[in-house]
Amino acid sequence: MQKTLTALLLLSLACLVACTKEPAPEKIDSAPAQAVVAAEPGIDPATGFKMSGDWELVRGNCTACHSAKLITQQRGTAQQWLTMIRWMQKKQNLWQFDPGTESRIITYLADNYPPDAAQRRAAIPRELMPPNPYAAETATLN
Ligand code: HEC
Repeated sequence: MQKTLTALLLLSLACLVACTKEPAPEKIDSAPAQAVVAAEPGIDPATGFKMSGDWELVRGNCTACHSAKLITQQRGTAQQWLTMIRWMQKKQNLWQFDPGTESRIITYLADNYPPDAAQRRAAIPRELMPPNPYAAETATLN
């Protein structure tokens, strides 16, 4: 009886060990994922910023007053980004940056949000537009 009990105990112990054993870690081949990241940076889910280069510096300095969307929907050359920063410094209480920080911020912005030729469609020719219901001359029915 004693022997049977011990055997049972050992058996259940063995089972417990076997059942709680961690599954063998899957082999992860990270090379393809890295290749994708290098081609197109991931998007930070919280801000929408492209996660490349100095994006965290930009997040730290540029999201205190307004949504990051105001930035990610904007496009510009380095000069245009600098102009926007100067305008905010002059009119919107944006603080001054030391030159190194400023140039890193601008490099990130100009690299990741450069001017985009296809941003706006061409204007629709006037003759293809519907009549403007608010213009006095279009109010008469013909
Ligand atoms: C001290 C507050 C503050 C900080 C920090 C700040 N901004 Fe702004 N920014 C503003 C205000 C205020 C506006 C105007 C918002 C509006 O029009 O609703 C604005 C507008 C903008 C616009 C829209 C400009 C336009 O022409 O419509 C962009 C782009 C922008 N900011 C980028 C940035 C970037 C890049 C940084 C970081 C370098 C930054 N902001 C940091 C206050 C700030």
